[in-house]
Amino acid sequence: MTKVSDLDTPAVTIDLDIVEANIRRIQDRLDGFGIANRPHIKTHKLPQMAKLQMDAGAVGITCQKLGEAEVFADAGVADDILLTFNILGVPKTDRLCALIKRLKRMAVVLDNETVARGLSEAGMRNGVDIRFLIECDTGFGRNGVQSPQAALDLAQTVMKMPRMQFEGLMTFPIKLPDTRQYLERSLQLFGGAGIPVPVVSGGGTPAMTLAGEFPMLTEYRAGTYIYNDVMQVTAGAATWDDCAMKVRVTVVSRPTDNRIILDAGSKVFTYEQYYAKGYGRIVEYPEAAISGFSEEHGVCDFSQSKRKPEVGDVLNVIPNHCCVVTNMMDEVYGVRRGEVETVFPVAARGKVR
Ligand SMILES: Cc1ncc(COP(=O)(O)O)c(C=O)c1O
Repeated sequence: MTKVSDLDTPAVTIDLDIVEANIRRIQDRLDGFGIANRPHIKTHKLPQMAKLQMDAGAVGITCQKLGEAEVFADAGVADDILLTFNILGVPKTDRLCALIKRLKRMAVVLDNETVARGLSEAGMRNGVDIRFLIECDTGFGRNGVQSPQAALDLAQTVMKMPRMQFEGLMTFPIKLPDTRQYLERSLQLFGGAGIPVPVVSGGGTPAMTLAGEFPMLTEYRAGTYIYNDVMQVTAGAATWDDCAMKVRVTVVSRPTDNRIILDAGSKVFTYEQYYAKGYGRIVEYPEAAISGFSEEHGVCDFSQSKRKPEVGDVLNVIPNHCCVVTNMMDEVYGVRRGEVETVFPVAARGKVR
């Protein structure tokens, strides 16, 4: 067996003990709330990880892109997929219909009539019914209808289109008090119109502790919780010990006393920052900061660290946002207690279409 210490750098390692603990903890939490778990696979893009999530009790998976859903359907790890993205254009809507035919259940979100019309036409063309959820913008300011009334109006319009079956409401991320008020009001309006809402889907790792305060949620979509990262620790959703992904890097230069250069830059970590101060946490030197990147260079400021690494030292970095690092790598290494247990080719890497 290869030792982790023998892995050439840069290498992305995933601690499998931590992954298993993260999966168990979040499944138990959602079970405690009585909310079904529908993990988002964009974090790992690995059918093997989805299988662990399904075996632990998930009801199905969430994918952001059709290409991801195709990879996971091919792998046969889940026969119930929610696609949380507006699907537009004949090539994609036909691919969606092909997936619907293969899976036990597949649903898609939408937030406007143009998308709905395209889906309806594809449903007629391909002879399939399309289950849809209305995406609601409950405060995040991304996709989504802007009010409970707009959710009802759109649902009623789309339900009249051939082959379209209303399944429920979806939002990301949940937030107090706005999301709760929005969903409560929506359910009142749908109830008043006599329209059952079987699914109310919420999501987001940082807000998961709040999920119990949303009694209307039937399912929850969290992604990042399986690996965790600087963003989740900063948000209070995880501890450093819960971070399963670490990027092994080598110190390739120390041009000044306090400037240390790593052999990984934006082509490994990307520039995601969110609420973090730098661009990743160096496990062995938490006082130091990754202050910037070139494509293949990580530039570190060690002025706040009394200890300094030498050229040739290997360090471990917890990335700011693990989900984007996944998409940068051909493979990641599943490790356990210092040994490489599995090499995972990142099956859905680059599946952004
Ligand atoms: C629609 C949707 N649902 C769920 C998630 C999962 O969020 P998180 O990674 O915070 O768990 C995301 C993340 O981007 C998302 O866009």
